[in-house]
Amino acid sequence: MRKPITEDLPLFRRSDFPPDFRWGCSTSSYQIEGGIHEDGRGESIWDRFCATPGHIRDASSGAVACDHYHRWPQDLDLAQSLGTNAYRFSVAWPRIFAQGRGRKPNQKGLDFYSRLVDGMLDRGLEPWLTLYHWDLPQALQDQGGWAERSTIDAFLDYTDVVSRHLGDRVKHWITHNEPWCTAFNGNFEGAHAPGLTSFKTALQVCHNVLVSHGLAIPIIRRNVFGGQVGAALSLHPLKPATDSAADVAATRRHDGLRNRWFLDPLHGRGYPADVWQLLGDNAPRMQADDLASIATPTDFLGINYYFPEIVADAPGQGPLATRVVEAPDVERTAFGWEVSPEGMVTLLSRVVKDYQPAPIYLTENGSTYDDVVAADGSINDVERRRYLQRHLLALREILALDLPVKGYFAWSLLDNFEWAEGYIRRFGLTHVDFATLERRLKLSGQWYSAFLRGNL
Ligand code: FCB
Repeated sequence: MRKPITEDLPLFRRSDFPPDFRWGCSTSSYQIEGGIHEDGRGESIWDRFCATPGHIRDASSGAVACDHYHRWPQDLDLAQSLGTNAYRFSVAWPRIFAQGRGRKPNQKGLDFYSRLVDGMLDRGLEPWLTLYHWDLPQALQDQGGWAERSTIDAFLDYTDVVSRHLGDRVKHWITHNEPWCTAFNGNFEGAHAPGLTSFKTALQVCHNVLVSHGLAIPIIRRNVFGGQVGAALSLHPLKPATDSAADVAATRRHDGLRNRWFLDPLHGRGYPADVWQLLGDNAPRMQADDLASIATPTDFLGINYYFPEIVADAPGQGPLATRVVEAPDVERTAFGWEVSPEGMVTLLSRVVKDYQPAPIYLTENGSTYDDVVAADGSINDVERRRYLQRHLLALREILALDLPVKGYFAWSLLDNFEWAEGYIRRFGLTHVDFATLERRLKLSGQWYSAFLRGNL
């Protein structure tokens, strides 16, 4: 008889998953690298954003972060010791072009990523490279940022340079991480860099980011023999707050911007008409071929899954007259995000049913809790371990439903700079002491490793 892993959860093993399944951890440049003045790196919008008091909860920044820029061999050792076979990271654009564009890329920046990629390959980790995980060169923001078409051209030049230099070794390419967050957290909610609060700008940013994704695909394919390209979207399963017609309609509108605004055009359907007609003059300006560019076929769809949302009708509130409400009595992480492994099953079933996408990779999933370091230095993060176990059980269910999911990347390898939350929110499987920069595997990391190494 199989014995339970912990309390009520059934035992499951890596061998329950296909042998070629990708198991990894995800990270991003600004959140872990530090070394912001090193080797010719230019300023990013996050450096600038963090410098303004009030933007980051603990008034911190990514100036040092995990000092991964210097400690990367140790971090890759850690990823390898977990038993992962893939590693997702991002390239900091300002390390390649300090001013965002130019005739000559910064060789030292390219060399850093080249060494990093070699380090992955040496350790049996398949590199999964994200081109844009939010650290836009500030010089481009000064010229209007993603709201300007010229930023698309700069992104394509940057894509060309990075894919030419690393494409012999990196075969998996993610153009953008979570375009929703780039557009709306950064340009409408003002909670992320560049800190703007215009709905119209956010929609234009969103459109330009999607166009840049589509136009980058043939460049990567040209430069990377056997390259696989996709984007990583943040998607959410949604439920109406009540079964009233008003809440059901509000949920549909919210879905229109949160999920369909990305899934529809990426799958050749253009923007959802029901939302477009609510936008009035906030609708983005488009050029003739844009929708065709956005719909360029990809090799996979990356999905970052964190939490479901419950939506109510809210006349006069926000651009779509909707409101996200707190579900009573649900389990939550320290961020307040609902813990819902079943939501992941619902979401993936829906995406596959409605869009029949290319193979799916779960490019992020993880949780934050208030970790306590015990006197003996151990971090007994039972809640994060349980979160991971329950989401992997949900993943097993997803595979049993025959949904085409091919990999899972835990967010994150390390505690890191969690954007507007600074260092308050820890998502790592590894604890980082930000005073000494010492790394220490948490209980959750030990469990992931035991699972991946078949030692459960
Ligand atoms: C995602 C981001 C990632 C991290 C996690 C917690 O939205 O892609 O960088 O902040 O949330």
